[in-house]
Amino acid sequence: MSDNQNTLSEFLLAFLKDKPQYSGLKEVIISIGEGTKNVNQQVQQGAIVDALGTTGDTNIQGEIVQKLDKLSSDTFVNVLSKTEKVAVIGCEEIERPVIAGTSENHSYIVLMDPLDGSSNIDVAVSIGSIFGIWKRNSLENVDEATLLRPGNEQVAAVYIVYGSSTVLVTAIDKSVQGFTLDSTTNIFMHTHKDIVIPQECPYYSTNEGNFEDLEPNTKEVVLSLRNSYSLRYVGSLVADFHRNLLKGGVFLYPGDVKRPEGRLRLMYEANPLGFVVEQAGGMATTGKERILDIIPEQLHQRTPLILGNTDVIKKIVATMNN
Ligand code: AHG
Ligand code: MN
Ligand code: MN
Repeated sequence: MSDNQNTLSEFLLAFLKDKPQYSGLKEVIISIGEGTKNVNQQVQQGAIVDALGTTGDTNIQGEIVQKLDKLSSDTFVNVLSKTEKVAVIGCEEIERPVIAGTSENHSYIVLMDPLDGSSNIDVAVSIGSIFGIWKRNSLENVDEATLLRPGNEQVAAVYIVYGSSTVLVTAIDKSVQGFTLDSTTNIFMHTHKDIVIPQECPYYSTNEGNFEDLEPNTKEVVLSLRNSYSLRYVGSLVADFHRNLLKGGVFLYPGDVKRPEGRLRLMYEANPLGFVVEQAGGMATTGKERILDIIPEQLHQRTPLILGNTDVIKKIVATMNN
């Protein structure tokens, strides 16, 4: 690691300079960083800037829209569109794709969950933002179908945790890197180099309140996890995921008898974080198939999601399918 790679911009410049296939990706990720600074400011100020509570609207998910859901969605659509490198954006908060440009330079597709963990916004608990990035096939049409690409065709993924510190993590080309926002300079500094998920697995994360609704084999999985690991469940996927990525662990939001497809969304939660965890040496599955191999049918479709430590997840999959 040479000295001049100590900021997000410097890292991306150095890491991508000899990779023409990623032309324009630096600008896209930098724009996510800039949008994050704006969202972070609102998150940190919370009630002081009237950023808490709901807008009164309901989104395509049938969920009440929080003010920060809307603010973050607007912010990231704006900064991504201004790069003139993004052709189309799919967003949890927006029913239809946002067409940002169709020229040859608009060569990326971005799927995003602009504010993850909305139920935690008003109580000052860690929340996040999640981005999956695909390359547009040259000059293909730009419409909903453009967005529906399997996770295994992603070229990068980015997530942010607005926690005790604000950390942006990138996964590109088998390299997972973490950057912490320096609140004195408002610059992302390269603080977590070459992240690899640990072999040890101290934690499991799942909503134990759903236990009675689980299928019998899945109940067996949770009972086994209870006897082996400590439960850590924040209720913000990105916060639970980030802890498991750095310290080791597994996260489960499986299907159950009430919601066989689970709760989390394939295109902008499971795919991006599945990409990150695989690039860090982990695994992401529905319990039956690799997340990144799912052929999407709808922009907002849900999927069961089990991701984290490979060895433990292989045992989980075996139990779920015996
Ligand atoms: P979002 O706020 O983007 O809708 O995501 C919330 C998700 C995810 O962050 C978290 O893991 C899960 O909802 C928690 O669901 P439960 O409250 O059902 O446990
Ligand atoms: Mn979410
Ligand atoms: Mn969200």
